[in-house]
Amino acid sequence: MNLYASILLAAGHAYAAQPLWGQCGGIGWTGDTTCVSGAACVFSNDWYSQCLPSSSTTIRPSSSSSTTRPVSTTSASTSTATGFVDLAVAAGKQYFGIMIDNSDLEKPEYMVIAGNTHIFNQATPGNRMKWDATEPSRNQFSFSAADALVTWAQSGGRQLRGHTLVWHNQLPAWVTNGGFNNATLVSVLQNHVTNVAKHFAGKLKTWDVTNEIFNEDGTWRQSVFYKTIGEYYVDIAFRAAAAADPNVGLAANDYNLDTTNGKVAAYVALVKRLKARGVKITQVGSQAHLTVGQTPSFNSMVSALNSLVAAGVDVAITELDIRMQLPATSAKLEQQKKDYNTAIRACMAVPRCVGITIAGYTDKYSWIQNGAPLPYDENYRPKPAYYGIIDGLKGIADT
Ligand SMILES: *[C@@H]1O[C@H](CO)[C@@H](O)[C@H](O)[C@H]1NC(C)=O
Repeated sequence: MNLYASILLAAGHAYAAQPLWGQCGGIGWTGDTTCVSGAACVFSNDWYSQCLPSSSTTIRPSSSSSTTRPVSTTSASTSTATGFVDLAVAAGKQYFGIMIDNSDLEKPEYMVIAGNTHIFNQATPGNRMKWDATEPSRNQFSFSAADALVTWAQSGGRQLRGHTLVWHNQLPAWVTNGGFNNATLVSVLQNHVTNVAKHFAGKLKTWDVTNEIFNEDGTWRQSVFYKTIGEYYVDIAFRAAAAADPNVGLAANDYNLDTTNGKVAAYVALVKRLKARGVKITQVGSQAHLTVGQTPSFNSMVSALNSLVAAGVDVAITELDIRMQLPATSAKLEQQKKDYNTAIRACMAVPRCVGITIAGYTDKYSWIQNGAPLPYDENYRPKPAYYGIIDGLKGIADT
């Protein structure tokens, strides 16, 4: 308890019990540490304990994990533990981040952790910078939703990753089915990238210029852009982005870059070709959508990241989550902890891996249905995976 709280209590100040979903503890917390009837104060992380429904503690698959750590932190001043960001920055990374959407900003209970800059100091908009959101009709641009996320991110000094300028999904039908010839699609592409990148110029650290342009074997994905323009559509997109926002980092982003496979080889070759043609590319983003028990080994992940780095770019882990087949068992939760730990340590082992972003944080809200892929359970309590991340950021291997 800090001095301020002590004085208030000594003066007979009466706190009200905290409401359901309210904060009831954590470093720097000076309010009440009790919850209203029907709710219990549950440790979530060092900065945050939360009033959760009392009954919920017995019905969740990962509830066993909550017994492995203390359930309350009220003597914050004696705590020595730190959060994802503090540990990542101490280890030389730029950030630890979260993929987030506008709807998340409207959920106060979600934002307590998502908005804590000791836990997440970087954000990647999940949907609102994609083509269908920013240019739903030809040359009709719409930025208000993305702007709200930018405002929120800036309010906390969070680094932002733009996501994404060119992708074959969430692409409006007017582009996919427009029947454009080569020259027209080139101008549609240039117009889109230029307008979107100009709008956010100066506000983003990095853009995912392209997303998922290769197949698993390293051949080109047959998107409307590739089929109509050919591989130079990538040059066109990167050049337009660089011209519109000269200081932003420019990335190619993809999944399945976790082993030295054909797709990684395609990115290595692409980076070299782009650089040889004078096209700016600064990073390859590895989404790292992984599966419990099938996560590649530490050495495989490090080798894949290092081969990308050797082509002359930074790397980042951009959308990390590790799904499992439900029901969750304690064995699967322990394996998920090890797998998170492996992925985190891989980035830690590569100096040019600039940071890690996870695709949400609580199993309550994930793009993966029924896969319990994230480090906090549906009741915002840390799962074993949370501690796998903490250990990984400290360089400790969970074996
Ligand atoms: C599209 O046009 C460019 C020249 O503007 C050319 O280099 C490219 O090969 C063409 N793509 C296809 C698929 O014909």
